[in-house]
Amino acid sequence: MAKDIKRIAVFTSGGDAPGMNAAIRAVVRTAAYNDLHVYGIKRGYDGMVAGDLTRLEVRDVGNIIHRGGTFLKTARSEEFRTPEGRKTAYEALQAFDIDACIAIGGDGTFTGANVFSQEYDIPFIGIPGTIDNDLYGTDLTIGFDTAVNTAVDAVDKIRDTADSHNRLFFVEVMGRNSGFIALNTGISIGAGSVLIPESEEPLERLIDILRKGAKRKKLFSVIIVAEGNKLGGAQSIADLVNEEFDFYDTKVTIIGHLQRGGSPTAIDRVLSSRLGFGAVEALLHGQKNVMVGIVNDTIRYTPFSEAISAEKLPNEDLIRMAEILAI
Ligand code: F6P
Repeated sequence: MAKDIKRIAVFTSGGDAPGMNAAIRAVVRTAAYNDLHVYGIKRGYDGMVAGDLTRLEVRDVGNIIHRGGTFLKTARSEEFRTPEGRKTAYEALQAFDIDACIAIGGDGTFTGANVFSQEYDIPFIGIPGTIDNDLYGTDLTIGFDTAVNTAVDAVDKIRDTADSHNRLFFVEVMGRNSGFIALNTGISIGAGSVLIPESEEPLERLIDILRKGAKRKKLFSVIIVAEGNKLGGAQSIADLVNEEFDFYDTKVTIIGHLQRGGSPTAIDRVLSSRLGFGAVEALLHGQKNVMVGIVNDTIRYTPFSEAISAEKLPNEDLIRMAEILAI
C-alpha cells in the first residue's frame, strides 16, 4: 500500500451516465474499508477549482446504487482548462490535504487529469463513465448498457406505430463521435440500416438499401442514425431521402437526453461497482494517472495518455452482421 495516501477525493465530470452513483458508492465504501477518508467534489473540475469538497461517509452513499444521474453533480469546466484554474484547483486540494483523486468521466475528464498530473504531484485514477462507450482500455463504459436499453425501449414503441402506418422512421441516438449506441440499438431492434460516425458510407448506399427494401415490399423500416454521423443527423438524412423517393411516408424521432437518465441496468451497476472498487485498489497498489477498465472480464489499467489518444472502434463483424440481418 502506498503509505502516503490517507485522504482521497472523488468527483464526476463531463456528461452524466447511469451508474455513476453506484461507482461513487463503491469508491467510498472500498476506501472506508481500507481506513481512507473520502471527500466528494461537487460539479467536477468546477467544484475542484471552487474548493467545493464535502466529507463522504459510508452512510452518505446508501440508497443510491439504483439512481441515475450523479448526486455529486457534474459539469464541463472551462476554468480547469486554464493553468490558473488548475493552480487554484491544486491549492484547494492541498487545503483539504487530499493525497489522490478518483475522476469518473469520459475523454474530456481524463484529458484534464492528464494535464494536471503533469503539472502537479497528486495521483489520479480514472473511471470510464460515459454513455458513448468510446474509451480505449475498457470493453464497456458506465452508462452505455443503460443508454442502449433506453433507446431500444423507445424504438420498440416507435416500431409499433411505424408498422401500423407503413412508415419509414429515422431515429437519432446519441454519439457525437462514436457509433456504439447506434450499432447496438440497431442490432437489438432489427434496424433497416445503422448510420455511424466511424463509417464513410455514402448516401447512395442507404438509397440502394431502401430501394431494394421497397422492391421486396418491405412496408415499414426504422433507420438508426448516430447524432455524429457524417451525412448529418436524422432530420438531414430524412430530407435527403425524401428528395429521392416520393412514396415513403417518413418521420423523424430524436431520442436525445432520455438516453442519459434512468435507473442503471444490472450490468451497469455491477460494472460501476467493480470499477469503483478497482480504482481504490489501484491507488492502494501505487498506480497513478491511469484509467481502470475491464477487458475480457479482467481489470486493466491504461495510462490516461493512451486512453484519450487511442481510438476504440465498433466491431467490424457486428457492422457486417447488422447489414446482413437487415435484408
Ligand atoms: O458524451 C456523452 C454525450 O451524451 C454525447 O453522446 C452527446 O453528444 C453529448 O454527451 C451531449 O452533451 P450535452 O449533454 O452537454 O449536450
